[in-house]
Amino acid sequence: MYNRDMAIERVIDTSLHEDDNDESVVEFSLRPNNFEEYIGQQHLKTNLALAIEAAKKRGDVLDHVLLYGPPGLGKTTMAGVIAHEMGANFRATSAPSIEKAGDLASILTNLNDGDILFIDEIHRLRRAVEEILYSAMEDYKLDIVIGKGPAGRSVKLDLPHFTLIGATTQAGNLAGPLRDRFGHSYRLEYYNDGDIQKIIERSAKLLDAKIDPEAAKLLAKRSRLTPRIANRLLKRVRDYADVNGDGIIDMPTASAALNMLEIDELGLDPADRNMLSLIIDKYGDKPVGLNTIAALTGDETSTIEDYYEPYLMQLGMIQRTPKGRVVTEAAKKHLKK
Ligand code: ADE
Repeated sequence: MYNRDMAIERVIDTSLHEDDNDESVVEFSLRPNNFEEYIGQQHLKTNLALAIEAAKKRGDVLDHVLLYGPPGLGKTTMAGVIAHEMGANFRATSAPSIEKAGDLASILTNLNDGDILFIDEIHRLRRAVEEILYSAMEDYKLDIVIGKGPAGRSVKLDLPHFTLIGATTQAGNLAGPLRDRFGHSYRLEYYNDGDIQKIIERSAKLLDAKIDPEAAKLLAKRSRLTPRIANRLLKRVRDYADVNGDGIIDMPTASAALNMLEIDELGLDPADRNMLSLIIDKYGDKPVGLNTIAALTGDETSTIEDYYEPYLMQLGMIQRTPKGRVVTEAAKKHLKK
């Protein structure tokens, strides 16, 4: 049985966290710095480029930006690009690491005029922390109570004019008052195979890896329309080519490496296939609740919602209905069930 720990080990794991290991340092250097280098998400780039030009013309800060959508599509990367295009400092944090209102107060008071503050997983902010953000976003004021009980007093401080960029995989779980304070709100869409191929070829160049166009096309088809997965697959296939071949990634090498990784023609890995199989075997055509699926696979419900489901829904293999999730004929056909 595949469980959460194994899911996290997945080659195609689209973990939101990038800790300081060597791999993420490499990955960071693959990130585009500006709109010109950033492939795909044209609608978002067009709108943001206009807003950035307008803000710069007025000598103003950019309105707060919310970026949402499945993991791995480039929300953090886009936030970095916005900062670069604005010529602003980029300060990144994530909601789970902001434990108390005081933590956020200290982050905000340490900003400078024009800074970009990026908060990843912003749907996970605690209520008390989130409430501090409201006046900070709206009036650049910090409204905080110092001391407890009758001795407590409310203090209002001026904050620098900053831009908040929030990222979330779960826009639906964002409190209304927070969502309403973003002047820009964009959904990052899945990429098309052509753009993923371009990203793979760009990354290969940066990594000094040689890849044939047909091999890049094959990798693109198996990357779940997601740049982060494309870059991970590229690195794993490069390892295979370095060990088993002459380092050149051609069709036979790419194909053999993908077989070894058990990634099928649609980019599904053993954990995806296992989840679909379990649902089909136990429930057939009947709707299943999220908690039941999580119990079946041994995953957290958020792992199912954030990591497995979005791409399976995009493929039409799973549908959400009011009564629960339903596995479709397309999934049964793919799994030969
Ligand atoms: N690397 C990861 N995402 C990218 C993108 N959207 N464009 C170019 N390179 C990338």
